[in-house]
Amino acid sequence: MNWGIIAPGRIARKFAQDLALSKGSRLLAVASRSLERAQAFASEFGAKHAFGSYEELLSCPDLDVVYVASPHSHHAEHSLLCLRKGIPVLCEKPLAVNRRQVEAMIGAAEANNTFLMEGMWTRFNPAFSHALELVQSGAIGEPQLLRADFGFRAPYLPEGRLYNPALAGGALLDIGIYPVFAALSFLGAAKGIIAQAKLTETGVDATTGIVMTHESGAVSVLDCTIVADTDTVCSIHGEKGNITVQCRFHEADSVVVELKGEQARRIELPKTGIGFYHEIRAVEEALQHGWTEHPKVSHAFSRLLIDTLDRIRELAGIRYPDFD
Ligand SMILES: NC(=O)c1ccc[n+]([C@@H]2O[C@H](COP(=O)([O-])OP(=O)(O)OC[C@H]3O[C@@H](n4cnc5c(N)ncnc54)[C@H](OP(=O)(O)O)[C@@H]3O)[C@@H](O)[C@H]2O)c1
Repeated sequence: MNWGIIAPGRIARKFAQDLALSKGSRLLAVASRSLERAQAFASEFGAKHAFGSYEELLSCPDLDVVYVASPHSHHAEHSLLCLRKGIPVLCEKPLAVNRRQVEAMIGAAEANNTFLMEGMWTRFNPAFSHALELVQSGAIGEPQLLRADFGFRAPYLPEGRLYNPALAGGALLDIGIYPVFAALSFLGAAKGIIAQAKLTETGVDATTGIVMTHESGAVSVLDCTIVADTDTVCSIHGEKGNITVQCRFHEADSVVVELKGEQARRIELPKTGIGFYHEIRAVEEALQHGWTEHPKVSHAFSRLLIDTLDRIRELAGIRYPDFD
């Protein structure tokens, strides 16, 4: 697969490192708002083409798929550029800022019969996937409670991506999405939600706490913060035992299983590279089969995820004046 990258920032750099690990993929082209940045990135990672605008990438010959790695605020705009030309897209998480934008993206993918997937890479992480299989096979009985958190102290830069409301900054959409994703993956859709947030001076959420009741009757207790370091662990508690996806759970290398009356057992499941490798392989699989979505991060799942995030934002008073 010949890949193009839109927005060669911090995460695109990590993604490009893992792209080099997959025999089925190679980086063909890089597009930045600055030709110099695109050229520097292309030469570092051996890409043939560098473009000084995202639009120029769309006419690149032999392009199979584009990875969109701009700030969340621009995911919809940059993905739509590709989808409307029938170019498949892997777009970083969150797929967009709200349901309206997500709907426009899925609509464009469907109208052009083109692949679109949210880059929820954790779904392809071997340790996280194994935990999900264990729970779904009934290893801990009926799940009753899930706890998950994600927190790190980010320097306060009001104009930067994490604190800037114009770039849809804040903890929830950047990292709180992982605990929410985990709760929906293990326990299904949320019925009831309680959420509160402490906002920064710039008006995005510094810290958000969430409690959800799920259709199964289970409860999830979640939190996220960009102003303190937290454990970043996900644990699922059932009638017969517990499973813990170890720190940091969104990119885990092991799972601990504790069944009632038995000694705790750690299962090592190291990821390949930084972890994007597994997501890249999933996109290769989808494109080889001609799928327009991947069953593990389907359009229905992305809709469920953004609907849940929209509800949490509404309850917690997290608003993006430019988008909502
Ligand atoms: N999967 C993961 O583990 C993970 C981890 C971190 C981030 N992410 C996601 O990846 C996305 C990018 O995060 P990042 O940390 O890589 O951000 P970043 O370092 O700030 O890079 C984003 C890039 O987007 C481009 N861009 C386009 N419009 C922009 C604008 N108006 N303001 C700022 N930059 C703009 C810039 O590249 P050019 O100007 O060169 O085009 C910039 O370098 C976010 O949506 C985030 O949620 C995912």
